[in-house]
Amino acid sequence: VIRQDLGCLYDIPLYKCFVAGWPQVEAFQARPDDLLIATYPKSGTTWLSEILDAIYHDGDLEKCRRDAIYNRVPFLEMKAPGILSGVEQLEKIPSPRLVKTHLPVHLLPASFQEKDCKVIYMARNAKDVVISYYYFYQMAKIHPDPGTLSEFLQAFMDGKVAYGSWYKHVKGWWEKRHEKRLLYLFYEDMKKDPRREIQKILQFLGKEVAEETVARILHHTSFQEMKKNPATNYETMPTELMDHSLSPFMRKGISGDWANHFTVAQNERFDQHYQQQMAGSDLCFQMEA
Ligand code: A3P
Repeated sequence: VIRQDLGCLYDIPLYKCFVAGWPQVEAFQARPDDLLIATYPKSGTTWLSEILDAIYHDGDLEKCRRDAIYNRVPFLEMKAPGILSGVEQLEKIPSPRLVKTHLPVHLLPASFQEKDCKVIYMARNAKDVVISYYYFYQMAKIHPDPGTLSEFLQAFMDGKVAYGSWYKHVKGWWEKRHEKRLLYLFYEDMKKDPRREIQKILQFLGKEVAEETVARILHHTSFQEMKKNPATNYETMPTELMDHSLSPFMRKGISGDWANHFTVAQNERFDQHYQQQMAGSDLCFQMEA
């Protein structure tokens, strides 16, 4: 079941380690004050993590840097040779912890529900996700060659990319939003009015933060700043893992870039498939810039 639900994740050699780590992930012991950041890949995970990390440090960005060993938000299901798995990293972190995952909602370890942990989900429109993912497949060398854009669009529509179907992912989390303490955010809203979205987050967390702190967080987490920041731009990753000459991780950071890539025919085909997949759902996305 897991294999099916995660698309071609397990056909990718490095991700195969995740399989070995699965029992550890399933048995993960969440703590009541954990905050889970959940996303489908390429939906603004790094951005949201950085915002939350800054909030958790009360906007003290120097402290974020000093705490570097703790402040990188561990990736729950990550397992790779020679380094601590996500679960092992999390076990070493003092509360309150930030935890990151790309898992579809039904594969989430049960303890998050049992401990009634708060969750922030961020979704991004499918067309921008698929373009961002296409570049990511090329630069992040753990992925197989994505082929042409047409081939990759088809793989995405078929859910045959790492982490499986975007459609099921965003709908799955959306449908569960009332059963959990869950804040469902959109990349496009964050892009349009990050101050308002940060206020939403603060309210959800029950935190009060001075206006000047919010301003500092906004500056620190702007695309330009994150692109320059070695702690967020992934440029310290070995080239064998991420080749930034092919595409930077912090690529464009905009909404609507799909329109620079899709042909008219690809767009029609994608729209038709999209309507079938999303029929009956009240979940709506802004596709335009
Ligand atoms: P693009 O490839 O469209 O530029 P993830 O962290 O989930 O892998 O998502 C990566 C995407 O989020 C990339 O999209 C990246 O540029 C974008 N992103 C990261 N930080 C951002 C920021 N501060 N503002 C806007 N977009 C950001």
